[in-house]
Amino acid sequence: MIKAGENLPRHIAIIMDGNGRWAKSRLMPRMFGHKAGLTRMIDLLEHAYDRGVDYVTVYALSTENLNRPKAELEGLYELIRTRFTSLLDRIFKRGIRLKILGDISLLPKDVQKTLTDAEKESEHFVGKGFNIALAYGARAEIVRAVNLAVEKGEKVTEKTFADLLYTCSQPEPDLIIRTGKEKRLSNFLLYQSAYAELYFSDKMFPEFSNEDLDEAFLDYSKRTRRFGKTDEQKKQDNK
Ligand code: IPE
Ligand code: IPE
Ligand code: MG
Repeated sequence: MIKAGENLPRHIAIIMDGNGRWAKSRLMPRMFGHKAGLTRMIDLLEHAYDRGVDYVTVYALSTENLNRPKAELEGLYELIRTRFTSLLDRIFKRGIRLKILGDISLLPKDVQKTLTDAEKESEHFVGKGFNIALAYGARAEIVRAVNLAVEKGEKVTEKTFADLLYTCSQPEPDLIIRTGKEKRLSNFLLYQSAYAELYFSDKMFPEFSNEDLDEAFLDYSKRTRRFGKTDEQKKQDNK
């Protein structure tokens, strides 16, 4: 069993995939899967922070997902309206700051307000963060950052460019976990994940347990992150 602080990622990002297939396998509508996914998400977050992780980012809705059937999108928005904020209280009680990643102007007005109000409620917290990617696409995020740089009329460096992304001033994700069997990033954190470790689980998100997360942490703890250097150099760095 992995212990807190033992080669643990500081920032984990989760592509919460498989809600629909999980529901379908139970002969239930897709929304049943999304509801179960939301409940699982909050429990999983608490477990991650209990283990000692400082930042968790979850991918909840991509720019491409906005092309899903209207009824499914409306169901997801209704979940945000009715269940998201009360669940968030459990995160805020821990002094964790919420940040929305994405172009929320693409969401209904009242949902935008729910999200920005929740963001404001936690804006005084420092050191620990919870990012939720909604109406998020990494390409759109990068293009937005380029345009911000152009407006400023200044050349960018890797560092100043990173500060124009939604995740500005946060540590990069160390570990990206994708549930739901697929092995792709689907337009998630393309700039920030340059050196992230990737972990894929065959489990559908609603069935990805706290023990499964520990399993991912254990796997991560055994990896050697060389960042382009040799093993010998890394040993020297760790002295
Ligand atoms: C991920 O689950 C959650 C969202 C994209 C909203 P899916 O809805 O993609 O579930 P599957 O992949 O169809 O099983
Ligand atoms: C990725 O899942 C996005 C989220 C989990 C929010 P998708 O189900 O949309 O990904 P693709 O379409 O299979 O690549
Ligand atoms: Mg999917």
